[in-house]
Amino acid sequence: MILPGETLGVLGGGQLGRMFCEAARTLGYKTIVLDPDPDSPAGDVADRHLCANYEDEFALQEMSNRCAAITIEFENVPATSMRYLSQRCQVSPSPEALQICRNRIREKHFLCDHDLPTAPFAVVTNENQLEPAIRKIGVPALLKTATGGYDGKGQTFITEEAQIESAFCELGRTPCVLERHLELSLELSVVVVRTADGASCCYPVAENQHISGILDTSIVPARIPSSLARQASHLATRVADSLNFNGVLAIELFVVNEMLLINEIAPRPHNSGHYTLNATVSSQFEQQVRMLCALPPGDTALLSPAVMCNLLGDLWESAIPPWENMLQQPTAKLHLYGKRKARRGRKMGHFTVLEQDIERALRISQEIKQSLASSLPP
Ligand SMILES: Nc1ncnc2c1ncn2[C@@H]1O[C@H](COP(=O)(O)OP(=O)(O)OP(=O)(O)O)[C@@H](O)[C@H]1O
Ligand SMILES: [Mg+2]
Repeated sequence: MILPGETLGVLGGGQLGRMFCEAARTLGYKTIVLDPDPDSPAGDVADRHLCANYEDEFALQEMSNRCAAITIEFENVPATSMRYLSQRCQVSPSPEALQICRNRIREKHFLCDHDLPTAPFAVVTNENQLEPAIRKIGVPALLKTATGGYDGKGQTFITEEAQIESAFCELGRTPCVLERHLELSLELSVVVVRTADGASCCYPVAENQHISGILDTSIVPARIPSSLARQASHLATRVADSLNFNGVLAIELFVVNEMLLINEIAPRPHNSGHYTLNATVSSQFEQQVRMLCALPPGDTALLSPAVMCNLLGDLWESAIPPWENMLQQPTAKLHLYGKRKARRGRKMGHFTVLEQDIERALRISQEIKQSLASSLPP
């Protein structure tokens, strides 16, 4: 066990890294962040910020010398860096799990190999595979880059077969997955916590609403039959078991014709799990600390129904949003990530509304969103 007083490291200095550092600090750990951005949100709250690239050998060596254990905040860190660190100190997730989850092609093959359901897909790595792929999958379809995509980036929507050539070109002729674009009745996610000896527990299922490929709102508990919620948790546990995962993992699910399909695996805490900062006994970030330090998991029980909404840079378009409007609502909890520059589509913060009645929580969250957008041009 790695106990409070020790130093923990995180690769990636965005909001997920920041919330990891805050949880670690609350428990009495020291933290070091590696991120090339001098203005990183996590760097601001960590004891130390190593401002260097993720491949920088000196920085990686310094991390492994100083830290008892190291984790990540996003899967686009080079698997080679994680392997280097894993030879020198405790890491989570394992380089093997990261290698699978950071690449859509490997992720899809992994899911198929373990009889885990996905949307129909075909792999495209060169021009010759375009025609057979679109013939197999049909339209409408989505072409997604195998690596580097997030928040709907690295994806092109295809409505006619002939568009596949230009879509592949637009994405830089890099390896891709072609997926059938499905009629979704709902999107769900499950965060699961798994110890090194294979014990696991799931958080309640979140119901997620996206706008333009970016998560907008998470509603917890999801408004679905309990049998579907059980199936979702069961799938999350099967994914974690199949990866022999140790740490915090999230799966994103599509509901299509009352069937569950796995969209993506995130080998880390997830945006749709931010409600756990306020609405459950232990947050997903506390669990990340606990799993990294070989401590027992905390309780995942829900203390109150919750609605979480992301705050995107769009809200900053004409001025700083009028926070005084939302701070008047006593059941809303505001989290801002301290990012210095707001950009369209950039996640700047989120808020969570806690109410016993979930529909009331939704109504209040909509009112808050409207009040924050009130200073924007129509
Ligand atoms: N095959 C599909 N059919 C219908 N909608 C889809 C499909 N794939 C993706 N989407 C929509 O686009 C959203 C983003 O897709 P996906 O999760 O693959 O992208 P991402 O950029 O990796 O996002 P994230 O920020 O979650 O990592 C999904 O949550 C869903 O709303
Ligand atoms: Mg996704």
